[in-house]
Amino acid sequence: MNIPFIDFSKQYESIKDRIDVGLKSVFEKGNFILGEEEKTFETQFANYCDAKYAIGVNSGTDALYLALGALDISVGDEVILPTFTFIATALCISYTGAKPIFVDMEDETYNINPQKLEEVITEKTKAIIPVHLYGQPANMDDILSIARKHNIAIVEDACQAHGATYNGKKTGSLGDIGCFSFYPTKSLGAFGDGGIVVTNDDEINEKIQMLRDYGRKGRYKHKIKGYNSRLDTVQAVVLSAKLEYLNEWNKMRNAHAAYYCELLKDVPGIGIPTVKEDRTHVFQTFAVRVPDRDEILEGMKNKGVGVLIHYPIPIHLQDAYADLGQKKGDFPVSEQVADEILSLPMFPHMNKDQIEYVCASLKEVCASNPKVS
Ligand SMILES: Cc1ncc(COP(=O)(O)O)c(C=O)c1O
Repeated sequence: MNIPFIDFSKQYESIKDRIDVGLKSVFEKGNFILGEEEKTFETQFANYCDAKYAIGVNSGTDALYLALGALDISVGDEVILPTFTFIATALCISYTGAKPIFVDMEDETYNINPQKLEEVITEKTKAIIPVHLYGQPANMDDILSIARKHNIAIVEDACQAHGATYNGKKTGSLGDIGCFSFYPTKSLGAFGDGGIVVTNDDEINEKIQMLRDYGRKGRYKHKIKGYNSRLDTVQAVVLSAKLEYLNEWNKMRNAHAAYYCELLKDVPGIGIPTVKEDRTHVFQTFAVRVPDRDEILEGMKNKGVGVLIHYPIPIHLQDAYADLGQKKGDFPVSEQVADEILSLPMFPHMNKDQIEYVCASLKEVCASNPKVS
């Protein structure tokens, strides 16, 4: 059997009519940039996150970059982030001229460890970016209380956590600004690049509205030096259609995760995900831990199972950040998880047979590996 890492073909089939009609209408009207459908989607997404504003942009990376721009973060400032995340979380800090300050993760949730925050806060610290990795919110109570104590802004990187909740509140509206990606493989994915910034703050909203659109207020009046980073109307139509089903798809992902855990929980050597009681996980990624991971990965590929690693190298060890002078051993938990983590196929319309095949394959591959006990 061949099981792809992600297959959205059934998802598209289930909403094809709705999307096709919406797209035809945009093609006929020609309102490709900031059309009314884009505004409608922003309102829908703001409502979904229980936030006052949502501002569509080009990508999750831009959402983070513009969020930092709205906070006037620039050269000489420092921004704290987990070292175990997708590199875009760090790049957006670098684009502003500020310095990324890495922190290790909690072994249980793979999210930033709040207990390590205070030791890196300085007078230069302007923001913390907690990442809700794989779809499970970070420990926001502790992060927020430290941030408030030191008067530091919180920019949530919710690029992997559309619809996840923490103490019943949606990600994106837990801090000062929330950032989402609509990259096609995300649980709410566009048919190309896209992203959105969410906030309850009037001034931040106004600034991001300008920053994403050449800094303008009025057609040819430019108040600040902005960028060109808008969500296309075509993508907004796709996202509006998909948003209606997001909760249902997140439930399907949770059911798959529960079945995976049931089948893998007692298998020697395999570590299954932990979900904390005060939050919901949306399982954009279902990742297990295994010893001798690279061998296991090859074994899974040979059995026709699409597996990936999120992420094999923590950012402090990436060549792109060698200038910061950090070395192996600086963030031991993240480094260990990077060596052991393995993402299994996960998409809403996968079926039980596929999950059973993935688990049977993993058990076989592990059983034949002398390093897995
Ligand atoms: C945690 C995280 N941050 C940022 C991004 C960047 O989003 P995008 O690819 O839309 O620029 C992604 C997704 O790729 C992500 O997973």
